[in-house]
Amino acid sequence: MNPRPRIVITRKIPAACEVEAQTHFDAVLNPDDRPLNAEQLKEALRSADGLLPTVTDKIDADVLGVAGRRAQIVANFGVGFNNIDVQAAKGLGITVTNTPDVLTDDTADLAVTLLLMVARRAAEGDRHVRGGHWTGWRPTHMLGARVSGKTLGLIGFGRIAKAVARRMHHGFGMRVIFSDPFPPTPEEARAAGAEPRASVEAVLAEADFVSLHCPATPETRHLMDATRLSLMQRSAFLINSARGDVVDEAALVAALKAGTIAGAGLDVFEREPQVTADLLTLENVVLLPHLGSATMETRVAMGLRALENLRLFFAGQPVRDRVV
Ligand code: DGY
Repeated sequence: MNPRPRIVITRKIPAACEVEAQTHFDAVLNPDDRPLNAEQLKEALRSADGLLPTVTDKIDADVLGVAGRRAQIVANFGVGFNNIDVQAAKGLGITVTNTPDVLTDDTADLAVTLLLMVARRAAEGDRHVRGGHWTGWRPTHMLGARVSGKTLGLIGFGRIAKAVARRMHHGFGMRVIFSDPFPPTPEEARAAGAEPRASVEAVLAEADFVSLHCPATPETRHLMDATRLSLMQRSAFLINSARGDVVDEAALVAALKAGTIAGAGLDVFEREPQVTADLLTLENVVLLPHLGSATMETRVAMGLRALENLRLFFAGQPVRDRVV
């Protein structure tokens, strides 16, 4: 084993992780936190044994195929890996890893935050108070939608969806239904307090809140298009803490403007960091800047997990979180 493999870390990561990286590796850090362009990513693959990118670095076939590549592993800082062309990596024999588990609870908490905020008009209320428009309590002021006891529909039933289900079923008494092409065992579903439905469409028709928890793949791109949005109840809310391109943002704006759904809570967007301009003008939408895993605890854990994958790889051991 090379005593100190060289790794390039594409963005600034929490200080504890940078210390850990420097302990085990000849680590190239990015203290200015400037995003690397394709040429810089290629140079990183040429000059280092491993790359630690994150979900905003586009590691496509062109970048991976750079001539004279030295790196053999791409250890993504993120559970999602749609930023990486994993088929191209596989073809080139490059190992790709991600950081599951460690962000499950915080991302579930954020999905719940969005749901509560949009149902109870929290962002709108905050703007109202800060704007100096509040004239005092009155029985009909800023009435929102009840959450407790309603039906939550989960699209995808992986780790984060199950954590949302547990919170909302056991904490808020919600009836939780879900659809997933790879369904869990009945025991697993029961433990999360959730009932399966045969299709996405069945979930959409029944749910008061629809929360998206599927990965971004060619199959899930624009899963929530105009047709599926039209299957939601007029009083229902859409929550997206998964990936932006699961929702057709133009169709969502149209549905919100036409009032065919009641509102949306979005942590992710189709063209991040750009946000469809119309969304910014709508009161019944809560917009967050991709904060799902953004707690100090989780971001440290994600960094350490990516570094652990690198360490195992360079020690010639099986990596913990192999994607390909
Ligand atoms: C992920 O890990 O995929 C998130 O989107 C970033 O926290």
